[in-house]
Amino acid sequence: MAKVKTTFFCQNCGTQYPKWVGQCKACNEWNTVIEEIVEKQEKRSWKQTANTKQATKPLRVDEILLNPEERIITNNKELDTVLGGGLVKGSVTLLGGEPGIGKSTLLLQIALQVNQKVLYVSGEESQSQIKMRAERLNKKQNTDCLILTETNTQQIFKNIENITPEVLVIDSIQTLYTNSIEASPGSISQIRETSAELIKFAKETATPVILIGHINKEGHIAGPKILEHMVDVVLQFEGDRNHSYRILRSQKNRFGSTAELGIYEMLSNGLREVSNPSEILISKKDANLSGIAIASTLEGTRPLMIEIQALVSSAVYGTPQRSTTGYNLKRLHMILAVLEKRAGFKLGAKDVFLNITGGIHVDDPAIDLAVVSAILSSNQDLAINPNVCFAAEIGLAGEIRPVSKIDQRINEAEKLGYKTFVASKYNKITAKNHNIKLVLVGKIDEAFATLFA
Ligand code: TYD
Ligand code: MG
Repeated sequence: MAKVKTTFFCQNCGTQYPKWVGQCKACNEWNTVIEEIVEKQEKRSWKQTANTKQATKPLRVDEILLNPEERIITNNKELDTVLGGGLVKGSVTLLGGEPGIGKSTLLLQIALQVNQKVLYVSGEESQSQIKMRAERLNKKQNTDCLILTETNTQQIFKNIENITPEVLVIDSIQTLYTNSIEASPGSISQIRETSAELIKFAKETATPVILIGHINKEGHIAGPKILEHMVDVVLQFEGDRNHSYRILRSQKNRFGSTAELGIYEMLSNGLREVSNPSEILISKKDANLSGIAIASTLEGTRPLMIEIQALVSSAVYGTPQRSTTGYNLKRLHMILAVLEKRAGFKLGAKDVFLNITGGIHVDDPAIDLAVVSAILSSNQDLAINPNVCFAAEIGLAGEIRPVSKIDQRINEAEKLGYKTFVASKYNKITAKNHNIKLVLVGKIDEAFATLFA
Protein backbone atom coordinates (compact mmCIF):
# COMPACT_ATOMS: atom_id res chain seq x y z
CA MET A 1 0.00 0.00 0.00
CA ALA A 2 1.26 3.43 -0.88
CA LYS A 3 2.36 5.49 2.04
CA VAL A 4 -0.15 8.23 2.82
CA LYS A 5 1.44 11.64 2.92
CA THR A 6 0.16 13.97 5.60
CA THR A 7 0.95 17.47 6.79
CA PHE A 8 -0.32 19.59 9.66
CA PHE A 9 -2.29 22.77 9.01
CA CYS A 10 -3.61 25.43 11.33
CA GLN A 11 -7.35 25.51 10.67
CA ASN A 12 -7.45 29.15 11.64
CA CYS A 13 -4.79 30.74 9.47
CA GLY A 14 -3.60 27.95 7.21
CA THR A 15 0.03 27.82 8.33
CA GLN A 16 1.66 24.49 7.52
CA TYR A 17 3.75 22.48 10.01
CA PRO A 18 5.81 19.30 9.48
CA LYS A 19 4.66 17.95 12.86
CA TRP A 20 1.91 18.61 15.35
CA VAL A 21 2.18 21.64 17.63
CA GLY A 22 -0.22 22.74 20.33
CA GLN A 23 -0.19 26.42 19.48
CA CYS A 24 0.04 27.93 16.03
CA LYS A 25 3.11 30.16 15.83
CA ALA A 26 1.55 32.40 13.22
CA CYS A 27 -1.82 33.25 14.78
CA ASN A 28 -1.19 32.11 18.38
CA GLU A 29 -4.39 30.04 18.48
CA TRP A 30 -4.36 26.88 20.58
CA ASN A 31 -5.43 23.45 19.34
CA THR A 32 -6.06 24.53 15.79
CA VAL A 33 -3.32 22.47 14.15
CA ILE A 34 -4.77 19.34 12.55
CA GLU A 35 -3.27 16.58 10.48
CA GLU A 36 -4.51 16.46 6.89
CA ILE A 37 -3.87 13.97 4.14
CA VAL A 38 -2.27 15.66 1.19
CA GLU A 39 -1.57 12.59 -0.95
CA LYS A 40 -1.53 14.03 -4.43
CA GLN A 41 -2.38 12.27 -7.62
CA GLU A 42 -1.20 13.55 -10.95
CA LYS A 43 -4.76 13.81 -12.20
CA ARG A 44 -6.17 17.32 -12.07
CA SER A 45 -9.83 17.52 -12.74
CA TRP A 46 -10.18 20.54 -14.97
CA LYS A 47 -8.90 19.37 -18.40
CA GLN A 48 -5.16 19.20 -18.67
CA THR A 49 -5.06 21.70 -21.46
CA ALA A 50 -2.46 23.74 -19.68
CA ASN A 51 0.23 21.15 -20.36
CA THR A 52 -0.57 20.93 -24.04
CA LYS A 53 -0.60 24.69 -24.55
CA GLN A 54 2.37 26.30 -26.21
CA ALA A 55 4.96 27.62 -23.84
CA THR A 56 4.56 31.33 -23.22
CA LYS A 57 7.18 33.81 -24.39
CA PRO A 58 8.14 37.08 -22.78
CA LEU A 59 7.07 40.12 -24.81
CA ARG A 60 8.08 43.78 -24.78
CA VAL A 61 5.41 45.94 -23.20
CA ASP A 62 4.63 47.68 -26.50
CA GLU A 63 4.21 44.31 -28.24
CA ILE A 64 1.57 43.09 -25.86
CA LEU A 65 -1.85 43.28 -27.43
CA LEU A 66 -4.33 44.89 -25.18
CA ASN A 67 -7.70 43.25 -25.07
CA PRO A 68 -9.91 45.23 -22.76
CA GLU A 69 -11.58 43.05 -20.17
CA GLU A 70 -15.07 42.06 -21.18
CA ARG A 71 -17.65 42.55 -18.50
CA ILE A 72 -21.00 40.98 -17.82
CA ILE A 73 -23.54 43.44 -16.46
CA THR A 74 -25.34 41.73 -13.61
CA ASN A 75 -28.35 44.09 -13.65
CA ASN A 76 -27.72 44.70 -9.98
CA LYS A 77 -26.46 48.29 -9.92
CA GLU A 78 -24.89 48.14 -6.47
CA LEU A 79 -22.90 45.00 -7.28
CA ASP A 80 -21.87 46.35 -10.67
CA THR A 81 -20.53 49.53 -9.04
CA VAL A 82 -18.62 47.61 -6.40
CA LEU A 83 -17.09 45.38 -9.07
CA GLY A 84 -16.10 48.45 -11.07
CA GLY A 85 -18.64 48.03 -13.88
CA GLY A 86 -19.78 44.42 -13.93
CA LEU A 87 -18.34 40.92 -13.66
CA VAL A 88 -15.13 40.52 -15.63
CA LYS A 89 -15.08 37.40 -17.81
CA GLY A 90 -12.73 34.79 -16.42
CA SER A 91 -12.49 36.49 -13.05
CA VAL A 92 -12.86 34.74 -9.72
CA THR A 93 -14.73 36.63 -7.01
CA LEU A 94 -14.82 35.59 -3.38
CA LEU A 95 -17.77 36.78 -1.30
CA GLY A 96 -17.34 36.53 2.45
CA GLY A 97 -19.64 37.35 5.32
CA GLU A 98 -21.13 36.15 8.56
CA PRO A 99 -23.65 33.32 8.56
CA GLY A 100 -27.17 34.53 7.87
CA ILE A 101 -26.11 37.91 6.55
CA GLY A 102 -27.55 37.17 3.09
CA LYS A 103 -24.74 35.86 0.89
CA SER A 104 -26.82 33.07 -0.63
CA THR A 105 -29.76 35.43 -1.06
CA LEU A 106 -27.63 38.03 -2.85
CA LEU A 107 -26.08 35.55 -5.26
CA LEU A 108 -29.34 33.73 -6.00
CA GLN A 109 -30.94 37.08 -6.69
CA ILE A 110 -28.12 37.94 -9.08
CA ALA A 111 -28.30 34.53 -10.72
CA LEU A 112 -31.98 35.20 -11.39
CA GLN A 113 -31.40 38.76 -12.60
CA VAL A 114 -28.48 38.41 -14.97
CA ASN A 115 -29.24 37.77 -18.63
CA GLN A 116 -26.81 34.87 -18.92
CA LYS A 117 -26.83 31.16 -18.44
CA VAL A 118 -25.98 30.63 -14.79
CA LEU A 119 -25.08 27.48 -12.92
CA TYR A 120 -25.71 27.89 -9.20
CA VAL A 121 -23.99 25.08 -7.31
CA SER A 122 -25.02 24.68 -3.70
CA GLY A 123 -23.44 22.36 -1.21
CA GLU A 124 -25.44 23.79 1.64
CA GLU A 125 -29.07 23.70 0.62
CA SER A 126 -31.26 21.28 -1.29
CA GLN A 127 -32.79 22.17 -4.65
CA SER A 128 -36.22 22.58 -3.08
CA GLN A 129 -34.86 24.90 -0.40
CA ILE A 130 -33.34 27.04 -3.12
CA LYS A 131 -36.58 26.94 -5.09
CA MET A 132 -38.42 28.19 -1.99
CA ARG A 133 -35.96 31.02 -1.64
CA ALA A 134 -36.32 31.88 -5.32
CA GLU A 135 -40.11 31.98 -4.97
CA ARG A 136 -39.71 34.32 -2.05
CA LEU A 137 -37.50 36.65 -4.04
CA ASN A 138 -40.31 37.09 -6.50
CA LYS A 139 -38.03 38.49 -9.19
CA LYS A 140 -38.45 38.34 -12.90
CA GLN A 141 -36.99 34.86 -13.20
CA ASN A 142 -34.07 34.06 -15.43
CA THR A 143 -35.13 30.80 -17.06
CA ASP A 144 -31.49 30.06 -17.79
CA CYS A 145 -30.56 29.69 -14.14
CA LEU A 146 -29.76 26.08 -13.29
CA ILE A 147 -29.47 24.82 -9.74
CA LEU A 148 -27.18 21.94 -8.86
CA THR A 149 -26.63 20.45 -5.44
CA GLU A 150 -23.22 18.85 -5.51
CA THR A 151 -20.02 19.08 -3.53
CA ASN A 152 -17.58 17.06 -5.61
CA THR A 153 -15.65 19.22 -8.06
CA GLN A 154 -15.21 16.39 -10.60
CA GLN A 155 -19.00 15.99 -10.73
CA ILE A 156 -19.44 19.74 -10.98
CA PHE A 157 -17.03 19.91 -13.93
CA LYS A 158 -18.84 17.04 -15.62
CA ASN A 159 -22.07 19.03 -15.39
CA ILE A 160 -20.33 22.15 -16.58
CA GLU A 161 -19.14 20.39 -19.72
CA ASN A 162 -22.75 19.55 -20.60
CA ILE A 163 -24.29 22.83 -19.58
CA THR A 164 -21.52 25.30 -20.53
CA PRO A 165 -22.70 28.04 -18.17
CA GLU A 166 -21.69 31.66 -18.70
CA VAL A 167 -21.53 32.38 -14.98
CA LEU A 168 -20.73 29.91 -12.20
CA VAL A 169 -21.76 30.45 -8.59
CA ILE A 170 -20.44 28.19 -5.81
CA ASP A 171 -22.17 28.19 -2.41
CA SER A 172 -19.81 27.64 -0.59
CA ILE A 173 -16.14 26.87 -1.19
CA GLN A 174 -15.91 25.23 2.25
CA THR A 175 -18.33 22.46 1.27
CA LEU A 176 -16.47 21.37 -1.88
CA TYR A 177 -14.05 18.47 -2.14
CA THR A 178 -11.93 17.06 -4.91
CA ASN A 179 -11.05 13.41 -5.47
CA SER A 180 -7.41 14.23 -5.97
CA ILE A 181 -6.76 14.64 -2.25
CA GLU A 182 -8.10 12.81 0.74
CA ALA A 183 -8.63 15.57 3.28
CA SER A 184 -12.17 16.30 4.43
CA PRO A 185 -14.24 19.17 2.95
CA GLY A 186 -13.60 22.51 4.59
CA SER A 187 -10.02 21.64 5.49
CA ILE A 188 -7.25 23.95 4.39
CA SER A 189 -5.87 21.60 1.76
CA GLN A 190 -9.31 20.92 0.25
CA ILE A 191 -10.13 24.63 0.06
CA ARG A 192 -6.80 25.34 -1.59
CA GLU A 193 -7.13 22.50 -4.06
CA THR A 194 -10.77 23.02 -5.04
CA SER A 195 -10.31 26.76 -5.46
CA ALA A 196 -7.21 26.17 -7.58
CA GLU A 197 -9.30 23.92 -9.85
CA LEU A 198 -12.06 26.52 -10.09
CA ILE A 199 -9.60 29.33 -10.78
CA LYS A 200 -8.03 27.26 -13.55
CA PHE A 201 -11.49 26.60 -14.98
CA ALA A 202 -12.34 30.31 -14.89
CA LYS A 203 -9.14 31.38 -16.61
CA GLU A 204 -9.27 28.74 -19.32
CA THR A 205 -12.90 29.19 -20.28
CA ALA A 206 -13.27 32.93 -19.52
CA THR A 207 -16.24 32.10 -17.31
CA PRO A 208 -16.67 34.30 -14.25
CA VAL A 209 -16.83 32.31 -11.03
CA ILE A 210 -18.27 33.65 -7.78
CA LEU A 211 -17.37 31.75 -4.61
CA ILE A 212 -19.09 32.15 -1.27
CA GLY A 213 -16.69 31.86 1.64
CA HIS A 214 -17.42 31.41 5.32
CA ILE A 215 -15.62 33.61 7.78
CA ASN A 216 -13.90 32.62 10.99
CA LYS A 217 -14.39 34.17 14.37
CA GLU A 218 -12.01 37.06 13.63
CA GLY A 219 -14.11 37.99 10.63
CA HIS A 220 -11.59 36.82 8.04
CA ILE A 221 -12.50 34.42 5.29
CA ALA A 222 -11.97 30.93 6.68
CA GLY A 223 -9.32 28.93 4.93
CA PRO A 224 -5.85 29.75 3.79
CA LYS A 225 -5.01 33.42 3.49
CA ILE A 226 -3.50 32.44 0.16
CA LEU A 227 -7.05 32.05 -1.17
CA GLU A 228 -7.47 35.81 -1.01
CA HIS A 229 -4.28 36.21 -3.02
CA MET A 230 -5.38 33.69 -5.62
CA VAL A 231 -8.74 35.22 -6.48
CA ASP A 232 -9.20 38.46 -8.42
CA VAL A 233 -11.84 40.13 -6.28
CA VAL A 234 -12.61 39.80 -2.58
CA LEU A 235 -15.96 41.16 -1.47
CA GLN A 236 -17.23 41.38 2.06
CA PHE A 237 -20.94 41.42 2.85
CA GLU A 238 -21.51 42.99 6.20
CA GLY A 239 -24.19 44.47 8.33
CA ASP A 240 -25.69 44.48 11.71
CA ARG A 241 -28.16 41.76 12.61
CA ASN A 242 -30.33 44.34 14.30
CA HIS A 243 -30.51 46.54 11.25
CA SER A 244 -31.81 45.60 7.87
CA TYR A 245 -29.04 47.36 5.95
CA ARG A 246 -26.30 45.35 4.35
CA ILE A 247 -23.10 46.80 2.99
CA LEU A 248 -21.10 45.22 0.21
CA ARG A 249 -17.45 46.29 0.28
CA SER A 250 -14.60 45.27 -1.90
CA GLN A 251 -11.36 44.45 -0.10
CA LYS A 252 -9.43 43.62 -3.21
CA ASN A 253 -10.27 44.23 -6.84
CA ARG A 254 -7.89 43.62 -9.71
CA PHE A 255 -10.28 45.37 -12.10
CA GLY A 256 -11.43 48.42 -10.20
CA SER A 257 -11.28 50.55 -7.12
CA THR A 258 -11.76 49.12 -3.66
CA ALA A 259 -13.31 52.33 -2.44
CA GLU A 260 -16.75 51.62 -3.86
CA LEU A 261 -19.56 50.47 -1.65
CA GLY A 262 -22.93 48.87 -2.29
CA ILE A 263 -25.87 49.27 0.06
CA TYR A 264 -28.83 46.92 0.32
CA GLU A 265 -31.80 46.56 2.56
CA MET A 266 -32.96 43.05 3.54
CA LEU A 267 -36.70 42.84 3.05
CA SER A 268 -39.06 39.89 3.28
CA ASN A 269 -38.75 39.46 -0.48
CA GLY A 270 -35.00 39.69 -0.80
CA LEU A 271 -32.40 42.41 -0.94
CA ARG A 272 -33.45 45.82 -2.19
CA GLU A 273 -30.79 48.03 -3.74
CA VAL A 274 -30.56 51.32 -1.90
CA SER A 275 -29.62 53.95 -4.44
CA ASN A 276 -30.09 56.91 -2.10
CA PRO A 277 -28.53 55.72 1.17
CA SER A 278 -29.04 59.02 2.95
CA GLU A 279 -32.75 58.24 3.11
CA ILE A 280 -32.13 55.35 5.50
CA LEU A 281 -29.18 56.81 7.38
CA ILE A 282 -30.95 59.91 8.58
CA SER A 283 -33.78 59.40 11.01
CA LYS A 284 -36.80 61.62 10.56
CA LYS A 285 -37.75 63.60 13.63
CA ASP A 286 -40.40 66.19 14.29
CA ALA A 287 -38.85 68.00 17.20
CA ASN A 288 -35.45 69.64 17.06
CA LEU A 289 -33.29 67.67 19.44
CA SER A 290 -29.90 68.67 20.73
CA GLY A 291 -26.82 66.56 20.06
CA ILE A 292 -27.56 65.77 16.43
CA ALA A 293 -25.54 66.92 13.43
CA ILE A 294 -25.54 65.83 9.80
CA ALA A 295 -22.21 65.10 8.13
CA SER A 296 -21.48 64.84 4.46
CA THR A 297 -19.14 61.95 3.86
CA LEU A 298 -17.83 60.12 0.83
CA GLU A 299 -17.77 56.36 0.51
CA GLY A 300 -15.75 55.68 -2.60
CA THR A 301 -17.09 58.11 -5.12
CA ARG A 302 -20.52 58.28 -3.60
CA PRO A 303 -21.50 61.10 -1.25
CA LEU A 304 -23.49 59.99 1.76
CA MET A 305 -25.23 62.09 4.38
CA ILE A 306 -24.99 60.56 7.81
CA GLU A 307 -26.39 61.48 11.15
CA ILE A 308 -24.11 61.89 14.15
CA GLN A 309 -25.61 61.74 17.62
CA ALA A 310 -23.77 62.81 20.73
CA LEU A 311 -24.70 62.74 24.36
CA VAL A 312 -22.67 64.76 26.82
CA SER A 313 -23.59 64.51 30.48
CA SER A 314 -21.91 64.93 33.83
CA ALA A 315 -19.99 61.83 34.81
CA VAL A 316 -21.74 59.90 37.56
CA TYR A 317 -18.73 57.80 38.39
CA GLY A 318 -15.23 59.06 39.06
CA THR A 319 -13.77 58.47 35.63
CA PRO A 320 -15.75 59.95 32.75
CA GLN A 321 -16.77 57.46 30.10
CA ARG A 322 -16.18 57.87 26.38
CA SER A 323 -17.75 55.46 24.00
CA THR A 324 -18.47 55.41 20.28
CA THR A 325 -20.39 53.34 17.76
CA GLY A 326 -19.27 53.57 14.17
CA TYR A 327 -16.52 56.09 14.93
CA ASN A 328 -12.91 55.73 16.02
CA LEU A 329 -12.64 56.14 19.80
CA LYS A 330 -9.08 57.50 19.60
CA ARG A 331 -10.25 60.20 17.24
CA LEU A 332 -13.01 61.15 19.69
CA HIS A 333 -10.39 61.50 22.44
CA MET A 334 -8.36 63.75 20.16
CA ILE A 335 -11.35 65.91 19.33
CA LEU A 336 -12.27 66.26 23.00
CA ALA A 337 -8.70 67.29 23.80
CA VAL A 338 -8.78 69.90 21.03
CA LEU A 339 -12.11 71.25 22.29
CA GLU A 340 -10.71 71.50 25.80
CA LYS A 341 -7.39 73.07 24.96
CA ARG A 342 -8.12 75.18 21.87
CA ALA A 343 -11.70 76.23 22.34
CA GLY A 344 -12.00 76.26 26.12
CA PHE A 345 -14.90 73.84 26.54
CA LYS A 346 -14.61 71.99 29.83
CA LEU A 347 -15.51 68.43 28.88
CA GLY A 348 -12.93 66.68 31.07
CA ALA A 349 -15.47 65.73 33.71
CA LYS A 350 -18.23 64.75 31.28
CA ASP A 351 -19.32 61.43 29.86
CA VAL A 352 -19.34 61.57 26.08
CA PHE A 353 -21.20 59.04 23.93
CA LEU A 354 -21.07 59.22 20.16
CA ASN A 355 -23.15 57.26 17.74
CA ILE A 356 -23.33 57.08 13.95
CA THR A 357 -26.85 55.99 13.13
CA GLY A 358 -27.65 53.16 10.76
CA GLY A 359 -24.97 50.81 12.08
CA ILE A 360 -22.32 51.92 9.61
CA HIS A 361 -18.69 52.68 10.35
CA VAL A 362 -17.14 55.81 8.89
CA ASP A 363 -13.44 56.61 8.61
CA ASP A 364 -13.74 59.77 6.52
CA PRO A 365 -12.12 62.61 8.55
CA ALA A 366 -14.56 65.03 6.94
CA ILE A 367 -17.14 64.11 9.58
CA ASP A 368 -15.00 65.69 12.35
CA LEU A 369 -16.79 69.01 12.23
CA ALA A 370 -20.18 67.31 12.54
CA VAL A 371 -18.84 65.33 15.51
CA VAL A 372 -17.69 68.54 17.18
CA SER A 373 -21.01 70.22 16.44
CA ALA A 374 -23.03 67.31 17.82
CA ILE A 375 -20.93 67.27 21.00
CA LEU A 376 -21.22 71.03 21.51
CA SER A 377 -24.92 70.94 20.74
CA SER A 378 -25.47 68.28 23.38
CA ASN A 379 -23.20 70.04 25.85
CA GLN A 380 -25.02 73.38 25.49
CA ASP A 381 -28.37 71.63 25.04
CA LEU A 382 -29.05 73.70 21.94
CA ALA A 383 -30.41 72.01 18.84
CA ILE A 384 -28.75 72.49 15.46
CA ASN A 385 -31.07 73.41 12.62
CA PRO A 386 -31.79 70.12 10.80
CA ASN A 387 -31.22 71.85 7.45
CA VAL A 388 -27.53 72.36 8.18
CA CYS A 389 -24.84 69.89 7.24
CA PHE A 390 -21.08 69.78 7.77
CA ALA A 391 -17.94 68.66 5.99
CA ALA A 392 -14.54 69.54 7.43
CA GLU A 393 -11.65 67.99 9.29
CA ILE A 394 -10.41 69.27 12.65
CA GLY A 395 -6.67 69.82 13.15
CA LEU A 396 -4.76 69.61 16.41
CA ALA A 397 -4.49 73.39 16.57
CA GLY A 398 -8.27 73.68 16.53
CA GLU A 399 -8.24 74.79 12.91
CA ILE A 400 -10.92 73.66 10.50
CA ARG A 401 -9.25 71.96 7.59
CA PRO A 402 -10.33 71.42 3.99
CA VAL A 403 -11.63 68.09 2.71
CA SER A 404 -11.52 66.36 -0.67
CA LYS A 405 -14.21 66.54 -3.37
CA ILE A 406 -16.01 69.43 -1.72
CA ASP A 407 -18.05 70.29 -4.82
CA GLN A 408 -19.49 66.82 -4.99
CA ARG A 409 -20.47 66.96 -1.33
CA ILE A 410 -22.11 70.35 -1.75
CA ASN A 411 -24.06 69.14 -4.79
CA GLU A 412 -25.34 66.12 -2.90
CA ALA A 413 -26.40 68.25 0.08
CA GLU A 414 -28.17 70.66 -2.25
CA LYS A 415 -29.91 67.80 -4.05
CA LEU A 416 -31.18 66.43 -0.75
CA GLY A 417 -32.66 69.76 0.25
CA TYR A 418 -30.20 71.06 2.84
CA LYS A 419 -30.15 74.83 3.19
CA THR A 420 -26.75 75.51 4.78
CA PHE A 421 -23.42 73.83 4.25
CA VAL A 422 -20.61 74.43 6.76
CA ALA A 423 -17.09 73.84 5.47
CA SER A 424 -13.54 75.08 5.92
CA LYS A 425 -12.67 78.50 4.55
CA TYR A 426 -9.45 76.96 3.20
CA ASN A 427 -11.38 74.72 0.85
CA LYS A 428 -11.21 75.69 -2.80
CA ILE A 429 -14.77 75.64 -4.04
CA THR A 430 -14.89 75.86 -7.81
CA ALA A 431 -18.59 75.77 -8.64
CA LYS A 432 -20.03 79.18 -7.83
CA ASN A 433 -23.78 79.28 -8.27
CA HIS A 434 -24.98 76.98 -5.55
CA ASN A 435 -28.50 77.22 -4.25
CA ILE A 436 -27.28 76.38 -0.81
CA LYS A 437 -25.85 78.83 1.70
CA LEU A 438 -22.16 78.22 2.29
CA VAL A 439 -20.75 79.02 5.70
CA LEU A 440 -16.96 78.95 5.61
CA VAL A 441 -15.16 78.88 8.93
CA GLY A 442 -11.54 78.67 9.99
CA LYS A 443 -11.69 77.96 13.72
CA ILE A 444 -13.93 76.00 16.07
CA ASP A 445 -15.05 79.18 17.87
CA GLU A 446 -16.21 80.70 14.58
CA ALA A 447 -18.21 77.58 13.81
CA PHE A 448 -19.71 77.69 17.28
CA ALA A 449 -20.63 81.34 16.94
CA THR A 450 -22.42 80.82 13.63
CA LEU A 451 -24.20 77.67 14.80
CA PHE A 452 -25.68 78.92 18.00
CA ALA A 453 -25.85 82.64 17.24
P1 TYD B 1 -28.81 33.75 3.68
O1 TYD B 1 -28.71 34.28 2.30
O2 TYD B 1 -29.21 32.34 3.86
O3 TYD B 1 -27.47 34.02 4.47
P2 TYD B 1 -26.02 33.38 4.26
O4 TYD B 1 -26.01 32.66 2.97
O5 TYD B 1 -25.11 34.58 4.29
O6 TYD B 1 -25.79 32.52 5.44
O7 TYD B 1 -29.78 34.75 4.46
C1 TYD B 1 -30.60 34.30 5.40
C2 TYD B 1 -31.26 35.39 6.16
O8 TYD B 1 -31.90 36.38 5.37
C3 TYD B 1 -32.33 34.73 6.98
O9 TYD B 1 -32.14 35.08 8.32
C4 TYD B 1 -33.61 35.19 6.42
C5 TYD B 1 -33.27 36.47 5.72
N1 TYD B 1 -34.07 36.67 4.51
C6 TYD B 1 -34.91 37.75 4.44
O10 TYD B 1 -35.06 38.53 5.39
N2 TYD B 1 -35.64 37.96 3.28
C7 TYD B 1 -35.52 37.15 2.20
O11 TYD B 1 -36.17 37.37 1.18
C8 TYD B 1 -34.62 36.04 2.29
C9 TYD B 1 -34.48 35.09 1.13
C10 TYD B 1 -33.92 35.84 3.45
MG1 MG C 1 -25.85 30.58 2.69
